[in-house]
Formats: sequence, structure tokens, C-alpha cells
Amino acid sequence: MKETDQDQSVISVADLFVSRSGKLVLEGIDLEIKKGEFVGIVGPNGGGKTTLLLTILGVLRADNGKVEVFGQNTDPSNFRGRIGWVSQTAANIPTKMRMTVKELITMGTVSQIELRRNGQEEKRARVEEAMELTGMSELANKDIGRLSGGQRQRAVIGRALASNAEVLIFDEPLVNVDRSARNGILKLLDDLCHDQNKTLILVSHDMAAIRQSAHRVIYLDGGIQYDGHPEQLPDIIELAGLRGIDHVHAPSSVQISTPSEKGDE
Ligand SMILES: Nc1ncnc2c1ncn2[C@@H]1O[C@H](COP(=O)(O)OP(=O)(O)OP(=O)(O)O)[C@@H](O)[C@H]1O
Ligand SMILES: [Mg+2]
Repeated sequence: MKETDQDQSVISVADLFVSRSGKLVLEGIDLEIKKGEFVGIVGPNGGGKTTLLLTILGVLRADNGKVEVFGQNTDPSNFRGRIGWVSQTAANIPTKMRMTVKELITMGTVSQIELRRNGQEEKRARVEEAMELTGMSELANKDIGRLSGGQRQRAVIGRALASNAEVLIFDEPLVNVDRSARNGILKLLDDLCHDQNKTLILVSHDMAAIRQSAHRVIYLDGGIQYDGHPEQLPDIIELAGLRGIDHVHAPSSVQISTPSEKGDE
């Protein structure tokens, strides 16, 4: 049977264990993300969200387990230009840095090796498109040091979009963003998923945002405690209580696991 585009596995994680400074942070993670999915990741501070993303990106090494991106190991040369990453601190651009919005967004294209003849032109078109999609066209020549928090966030998202990456990973892109800018960013992410078939991973403490936008939500606290539909996501208070509980009543379509079920060592 022919595999359709939507069935393509983009990220595949199996029985992953990761330690940082000798402390076990992630244990027994199994995760499969397919092309076109919009996955929200939530969880307590220190639950391992950023660690998981950095392991997927090949920045951190696993103690054990397997991580594949586009069916290959996580050597960054295997997915150069195919993954756009907006880190938790990406919008904290030093105010001393003198750069316009357009220049910042253009930086998203520099890691791409263009072999085609019209490469430069295509890059320029992508920068224009990224500015338009993020609503930054009118601010193109503005100094990034003079942007509001929400505008800066949009600019760094624009930089990721300009790379033309198939997978976009955002670690807390809604921090310091006011309500209307937040809704604009969520709408943008939703459009990218639906109209451009991008695969999106959004880490956020903003539960309302995740419920509003993601198709699937993962609750991470050392292990994956919940992986399912946002509407069935247990109440946050209930989730906090998931730590260490062996059995949680949940609809059968929702997978719930605890680290102890995965063979705690
Ligand atoms: N650079 C580091 N060196 C050593 N330990 C670290 C480092 N960064 C994070 N950790 C530890 O790893 C664990 C997981 O941290 P991580 O940053 O992945 O959590 P998180 O879920 O992203 O948290 P937050 O919601 O605060 O961003 C924490 O116990 C943290 O103290
Ligand atoms: Mg984090």
C-alpha cells in the first residue's frame, strides 16, 4: 500500500532516556509525529520539554533509545534547512544589536545552500512572504531593538518561516505577548499547518492557547503522562496529580502512561 503524505513520520522517538548533569530528565519516551500534525507540549517547569526538543534536534545526546528525524538519525546534516527552531529565549535579542526586521528575517535563509539558479531570488521572495505572514511587512525597516515583545516574537517566527523548513518547533513563543498578538500568532501557526502542510510543535504554558490551536497535546513530566486530543486533556490540576500515579481513568482513545509503567530503573 502506498504511503500517503500525511502518513509520513517526521519525528520518531522510541524508549528515550536523557540525563542532564547526571540527573535523569527524560525516561521511556515513545513518540511519533507525522507530517502535517500540530502538536502542543505542556508540562511543569523542569518537566523536560526543552530537553526533549534539544534531543530531537541532535543538540543533546540520549543515554538510551532511538530518535529519528525524517527517517534518519539526528545528525544535523541530515535535516539541515528542514527544521525551523525558535528557542525559548529567541526573542531576547540584545537591544544593542542594530538590525532591521528584514535583516533578521533574512538571516533565516543563510544556512540554506542554494544550488538552483534562481536561489537568491527565491530566498528574497521567501523573506517577503515570511514578513507578510507574520504581519511584519510594514515594520521591515524598523530596528529590532525598538519592537514590542509581541512584534519581536513575530520577527523570530518570521526568521524560522523564511528558512522554508517543513517542521517548525517553537519553545514558548507566547511569553511576553499580549492577548491580541497571541491570537495573531496562533492563527498564523494554524494557517501554516492547514494551508502549507507544515508540521508544528508548540511548547507553551498557555493551556488555553494549546487547547485552541493544537490537534494533539502531550503532557510531559519526565515521561509522557498524556498524549491525546486537547479536548480530552484532563484539567491542569488533575494533570499535576498525575505525577507518580499508576492508573488514571481516561477515555480509551487517549494513551496515558507513567514512567513506572515503562520500566523505571
Ligand atoms: N543546561 C543544563 N544543564 C543541566 N541541567 C539542566 C540544564 N537545562 C535544564 N536542566 C535540567 O533538566 C531538567 C529539565 O529541564 P527542561 O529545561 O528540559 O524543562 P522544561 O520542561 O523545558 O522547563 P520550562 O517549562 O521551565 O522551560 C530540569 O531539571 C533542569 O534543571
Ligand atoms: Mg523549557
